[in-house]
Amino acid sequence: MSAVHVRAPGKINLALRVGPPRPDGYHPLATLFQAVSLYEDVVASPADDVTLEIRGRGADLPTDGRNLAVRAAKLLRETSGTEAGVHLTLTKQVPVAGGMAGGSADAAATLLACDQLWGTGLGREELGELAAELGADVPFALTGLSAMGTGRGDLLAPVMSRGQYHWVLAVQAEGLSTPAVFRAFDDLHGYAPARVQAAGPAAGRDGADDGAARLAAADAPHPRDAPDAHAPDAAEGDAPRLDDGIVSALLSADPLVLSRSLRNDLQEAALALRPELGDVLAAADRAGALGAVVSGSGPTVAALALDAPHAASVAGVMRGADVAAEILTVTGPVPGARVLEHVGRR
Ligand code: C5P
Repeated sequence: MSAVHVRAPGKINLALRVGPPRPDGYHPLATLFQAVSLYEDVVASPADDVTLEIRGRGADLPTDGRNLAVRAAKLLRETSGTEAGVHLTLTKQVPVAGGMAGGSADAAATLLACDQLWGTGLGREELGELAAELGADVPFALTGLSAMGTGRGDLLAPVMSRGQYHWVLAVQAEGLSTPAVFRAFDDLHGYAPARVQAAGPAAGRDGADDGAARLAAADAPHPRDAPDAHAPDAAEGDAPRLDDGIVSALLSADPLVLSRSLRNDLQEAALALRPELGDVLAAADRAGALGAVVSGSGPTVAALALDAPHAASVAGVMRGADVAAEILTVTGPVPGARVLEHVGRR
């Protein structure tokens, strides 16, 4: 085989509840993920070493060992014991540092592509474990569709969803650093800064993109490398819960019902760092969206529409409002990382 092409989706958090920071620096989450039709494509070709080139968005992201895709390939290489290398060609559609887990999708796509290329034969479960080592959102990019995430967001349970949902995404030119948004969340709630995060550059750089935030994290002990990472008693009593309505809303296939359950505990923190997001949410409302929410740690805002024509109309009005660098329309749920083709299979 000369190359493997894998595609993995970005995500929206339909609901995101966040608890106080655990001793390991992570926040306990309860979230409902929906994978949407904005994709990261990875083509993995045989090579002696692990190398990466980036096309599309994120052309200025690093392509060395600080990049999560390179880290994913190296982790799989170590785990499987293969001596093979890979050249990764990554084409990005998901906004960089947009709260849509683009970097996580890169890692998930890379794990699956290298598994196929090298014939390591790891099952989905083992790939899922490697995914969780790479980042809290990576397991969901492997599984896709709709899922409830707990723990750091990496413990997944599939959720039934009926129908197709139409979203309008307002993408900002400048991303938000996920650790910075979590820190702003802690400030707003009066939570003491978590010991590990306060100590290390894992806390990220303000205004850094998702890739750069991960870079910062790569430079220093990661929260999950702390001695008490994953301690079973870490703030267990503070684990948040999703509101009951959201799971039945997804079964209703009715976007109007779903719109009432959209909620993000990080939204206030994202707004504190980026007050202009208030204008984006207001523009979505004026454009007739059923509801709108900041996705994950932001700054991408996801506005829900009734159907495809309504999404096109909301998108048109939002473009006119000039509140975002780009306005895109997507649908969800869509599948997780999957092999699109084996190029040159013998
Ligand atoms: O796991 P990942 O590397 O994607 O997380 C990026 C950063 O986001 C973490 O270093 C941490 O600062 C923050 N985070 C958190 N709680 C979570 C997930 C992420 O505090 N559940």
